[in-house]
Amino acid sequence: MATRELPMVASRNFLGGAFSFKRDQLGFLAGGIREHGDLFQFRPLGLPMVMVNHPDHIRHVLVDHDDRYDKDASLFRIVRPVLRDGLIAITDKKRWRRQRTMMAPHFTPRTVRNFAPNMTDETLLMLRRWEARPEPEAPLNVTDEIGQLALRIVNRSLFSADVSAAAMAFERAFSDANDLLGAFFRLPFPPLTWPTVRRRKLRAAIGAMDDFISGVLQQRLNSTEQEPADLLTLLMHSVDDDGHEMDLEQLHHDVLNLCIGAFETTTNALSWSLYLLARHPEAEKTFHAEIDSILADRVPTFDDLPELPYTRMVIDETLRIYSPAYMTMRRAMVDDEIAGYRIPANSNVLINSFLLHRHADFWSDPDAFIPERFLPERVAERPKHAYVPFGSGPRVCIGKHFALTELVMALATIGRTHRLVLGEGAPAVEPEPLITLHPRGGVRLQAVRRFQD
Ligand code: HEM
Repeated sequence: MATRELPMVASRNFLGGAFSFKRDQLGFLAGGIREHGDLFQFRPLGLPMVMVNHPDHIRHVLVDHDDRYDKDASLFRIVRPVLRDGLIAITDKKRWRRQRTMMAPHFTPRTVRNFAPNMTDETLLMLRRWEARPEPEAPLNVTDEIGQLALRIVNRSLFSADVSAAAMAFERAFSDANDLLGAFFRLPFPPLTWPTVRRRKLRAAIGAMDDFISGVLQQRLNSTEQEPADLLTLLMHSVDDDGHEMDLEQLHHDVLNLCIGAFETTTNALSWSLYLLARHPEAEKTFHAEIDSILADRVPTFDDLPELPYTRMVIDETLRIYSPAYMTMRRAMVDDEIAGYRIPANSNVLINSFLLHRHADFWSDPDAFIPERFLPERVAERPKHAYVPFGSGPRVCIGKHFALTELVMALATIGRTHRLVLGEGAPAVEPEPLITLHPRGGVRLQAVRRFQD
């Protein structure tokens, strides 16, 4: 059978829907799905984009025919000035494979287990800081608090370092870059090479993140003390098949990519999970019953994870509703065909997990928070690629085990002693689709002790 042309989202002018996409990216794509189904094309400012929204097609691109696609797509071109040749955005497949092979052994559950105490210790310190405030129950910007927590955890695990002040500068710089690049993704004009205020701000943000990474790397290289048992030591001594270590530039880029990959995604996931529990008292009750019965007055350990299935389902459902890395993209390296439709070479193939995770064929009442969707028997009823918060295929998130361990451990540690509650008449928090899916204005909640001393 001859291949057909993909349906095109109609546009009234040569801008190809660029302004609708800028105004409301998720609404624009949801409209395309309503009108054309799971496969369609659109051309904002002439850029060839193909939306794929069916699990089979996502498996086709990310897994089965990953050799026909690479990351030289417009999204990664936009973030490359920040991420450079680190693992997230690197395009060259041979170089990517070398780096991934060197790094992967340090992100297995066995290695992540060593970092679990950092996750609970830092969460306990955060709770103590909340308690030490003059008014412990005053509202908190939970997203800022969890942002600090996520950075402290990743810094301790990567660098064994307490780099709180520098970490705050990193957080601000990342947030600026996320805002600037998110806006640029929605409307890629004027080019980032033009001498605009936006470019100046982006350069400053990249400079601040680089200074942070250079600082910790130099400190380690100049240190005469015994090397600590952290991820940086492991990465510095990783060798490729020819016995070569990473050079300093590569190490810098990969460490930066790990910090970026680990920071906003986990921050958003934990903030949203606390927000969803605050809005769903029944689920919160079930969550408390589980941690009370398993932990009693103990802090969770890595070995408790299999005993906390409901806590894990709360995290899984949060990652469904508010998928933090909600979009990714691939470039078709060659002409391809999906479900009888022609995918021309150089198309930017867009996968949007915010919309996929609401696909009517696989999720009933998709906006409702129902952790039980992730009971093993319910998971078995769905195609695997209906749910891809960590991506899939060779480029699946390397930090998946780290993230899931951190999220379950931190949520259980907080829930042991504290409830987070919405203030009287607090408005719903809206998701803001930047490069990651950010809670607009941050999640604001009050921390209330569950038991009085
Ligand atoms: C809830 C937390 C997280 C989510 C939702 C998430 C999501 C993702 C997704 C969807 C991808 C694949 C992107 C693509 O296919 O284009 C990815 C890749 C990646 N993530 Fe994560 N991530 C999380 C946490 C982490 C953590 C904790 C780290 C580091 C410790 C990390 C480091 C990376 C890196 C380095 C890559 C690139 C992997 C490669 O291309 O080989 N992520 N992440």
